Amino acid sequence: MSFTIDTESVDHALSTTRAVRLRLDLERPVDNQVIYDCIDIAEQAPTGGNQGSRRWIIVRDQARKERLAELYYESIGKFMIDARDKTMGTGHPNERVMKSAAHLAENMANVPAIVIPTIIGEHDGSGQPGLFDSVIQSAWSFCVALRARGLGTSWTTAGLSKSGEVAELLGIPEGMTQIAMIPVAWTIGTDFKPAPRLAARDIAFIDTFAHTWESGPSDPACVADGPGTVVEIDIKAPAAKVWPFVSDIDFGAQFSEEFLGATWAEPNAEPAVGSMFVGSNKHPAIGEWDVECFLTHYEPAKEFGWCTSNADNPGARWRFELETIAGATRLRYSLRLGPGRSGLSAAIDAMPDKEPKIIARRLTEHGTNMQKVVDAIKAAAEGQ
Ligand SMILES: Cc1cc2nc3c(=O)[nH]c(=O)nc-3n(C[C@H](O)[C@H](O)[C@H](O)COP(=O)(O)O)c2cc1C
Repeated sequence: MSFTIDTESVDHALSTTRAVRLRLDLERPVDNQVIYDCIDIAEQAPTGGNQGSRRWIIVRDQARKERLAELYYESIGKFMIDARDKTMGTGHPNERVMKSAAHLAENMANVPAIVIPTIIGEHDGSGQPGLFDSVIQSAWSFCVALRARGLGTSWTTAGLSKSGEVAELLGIPEGMTQIAMIPVAWTIGTDFKPAPRLAARDIAFIDTFAHTWESGPSDPACVADGPGTVVEIDIKAPAAKVWPFVSDIDFGAQFSEEFLGATWAEPNAEPAVGSMFVGSNKHPAIGEWDVECFLTHYEPAKEFGWCTSNADNPGARWRFELETIAGATRLRYSLRLGPGRSGLSAAIDAMPDKEPKIIARRLTEHGTNMQKVVDAIKAAAEGQ
């Protein structure tokens, strides 16, 4: 029988299977059959050596759920509840997620079912895919299948720091690995949204790590495709401490092989989108040159971006982005060449058939300098 897959529905389920915590319906009973149905679907996921070695524990007994909730509370729940109480009403970036996580911690025992996917075997630490790696994709299929039926889950692993106690409670024999502790309930409403994530074109690299393409790339690749590169670094300092280095247009000159320094057109004005500065550069093949730059992004402690030459048809676009992650700031420094003319254009005019090679070499060169700059920002921000 041929079957037409409704791509829109599949994509919707895949992109809206959220960590549901506040909207778990704690009152509406969940029948075992719907859980079995979703496990049957999940079992279709790939498995190393085609060995079906997954075993699922569906915890329904109230006393056992209470003990699991206790273990969860001891491992992370208490921390989440304290964090919720501290961040409530403060506008802290983690305020919302802590409110939700604390609610789950307080209600783990009240969810209709807790499902623990396990696999026969223990990870051998070899770094090679093995039995253990054959269960994650299946457990995620389980969550998506439930979502498609109007139920919600939350992938939790914190409680597994107590896997010995969990095994004893549920009679899980030695030699099995627990993967997650997944609360299951109907959801209150079904209108979940995709989460904000970086776009594929910014985090997917074609053929060479960190090389990105705004479009295409065509064959052969050209500057009009918007080739780019990116470096990222985790800095153990809050974004506010990283920001002064990111927004200092002269800072990178001490570390880059190419960038000599920059000056604001209006040194006493507060920077804003549209503000202009002139950057000076040198390169063994190009010589020394100055370029006018225009701020395209300016949000303190969040982002600082500029384009070169011409705001409407830039030679290149540069951007720093700061993201707060657990206990640190992730600094992302990206470059996109084109679509306008830049230092590269003369070389491409002279050797048009070498355009893909010239681009690749230039991206690698820029990437090396960008790495030096973010390394220096990390050292400076962490050293304060
Ligand atoms: C490996 C892993 C472990 C997680 N552990 C927990 C956990 O112990 N407790 C919890 O409340 N959420 C846990 N989560 C859920 C994340 O916090 C959640 O995915 C994140 O807040 C983003 O929300 P979203 O899934 O709705 O996009 C975990 C997620 C993953 C992938």
